[in-house]
Amino acid sequence: MRRPWLPLAVATATALLGGQLAFAGSATADSDPVSAKPSPAPAYPADSLRALAARVGLRIGTAVNADELGSNAKYTQITAEQFSSVTAENAMKWAEVEAVRGTYTWEKADQLVAFAEKNRQLVRGHTLLWHNQLPAWLSTDGYTTTLSNEEVKAALKEHIFAQVRHFKGDIWQWDVVNEAFDDNGQPRQTIWYKAWGGTGYIADAFRWAHQADPHALLFYNDYNLEFTGPKSNAVYELVKSLKAQRVPIHGVGFQGHLSTQYGYPDLQSNLERFAALGQKVALTEVDVRTLTKPDAVNVPVDALAPYAQESYWSRSLKACLAVRACISFTPWGFGDSYSWVPGWFSNPQAGAALIYDEQLNPKGQYQVLQQDLALASGAPHRG
Ligand code: XIL
Repeated sequence: MRRPWLPLAVATATALLGGQLAFAGSATADSDPVSAKPSPAPAYPADSLRALAARVGLRIGTAVNADELGSNAKYTQITAEQFSSVTAENAMKWAEVEAVRGTYTWEKADQLVAFAEKNRQLVRGHTLLWHNQLPAWLSTDGYTTTLSNEEVKAALKEHIFAQVRHFKGDIWQWDVVNEAFDDNGQPRQTIWYKAWGGTGYIADAFRWAHQADPHALLFYNDYNLEFTGPKSNAVYELVKSLKAQRVPIHGVGFQGHLSTQYGYPDLQSNLERFAALGQKVALTEVDVRTLTKPDAVNVPVDALAPYAQESYWSRSLKACLAVRACISFTPWGFGDSYSWVPGWFSNPQAGAALIYDEQLNPKGQYQVLQQDLALASGAPHRG
């Protein structure tokens, strides 16, 4: 998996073909480096999210479920046709790629990267450092470990170099550090924090990732940054301090796990203040959940909830469109059957958080995104 990454060629290689927007591709961008035979240009509808977003240079992404991709025809077709960026929902997490110490299993992640290349999509790498989904040999809870501080440090360095080198040239944006702060803006007391005796691990992680792939955009990624408050402020100060130390950080990912239970956040002003620090920004894991019936998954308690959800989807997309530094907008999957929300938010039960229903039919939430993109020709062009 070592191919040149050609964002400009890809971004400029669109052409309208008989009502279908398809990538014409340049000779280089379309060539398979092994066989040197041009691969066929995949076609996708002119009113797809990806085609409409391309007009303002925005990437529309999705998290991808590795079990459905390839085996579920409808799921696979929507992934290819609607989205111009993909994120592995789980397949690139540490527990998945190195469950057994020293033995790497890249197959699922490699399959996604190959799919993305075939379909002219860019890849968000998620995630190099987190306190969840760590292999059991390292930590079962992210806060305790049987390894010494020196061993933890060595393991992180080895992991970042192994993973970033494996995907070198294939990853557009890496989530280097995920969720390092709690909602009070305090650094989480994870195994990383403890091994370094502070937040110094963050700078090291970015430096190592940059050494391993100097062309990838390196992101800090977290939830609830959408709201101004202690957490968003702490991350803002972190980014400022990393910049002052000349640490290679290029972007801040706003996960965007929103709920109609809470008020809509002041997202645009937060995107703007991070952009003003010279950062790219991105919506990386958007879903808009609502309270659902305990005995019927994904059925809202309030019949009017979908209208509130449409409003949240529309406003968050428009916030991204309004900020030129906002380079991608990624829902955390697209079909309600595959969403992490009902399993995770169960007290009270929540769900119906995505833009396609359980049968993979587009919901009103899809349509508002489509309309906003269709009307976005006045938005600043990015890239
Ligand atoms: C979630 C996945 O969607 C689930 O399948 C998995 O069981 C747990 O993790 N923030 C993140 C994502 O950064 O990696 C999480 O993904 C959702 C919250």
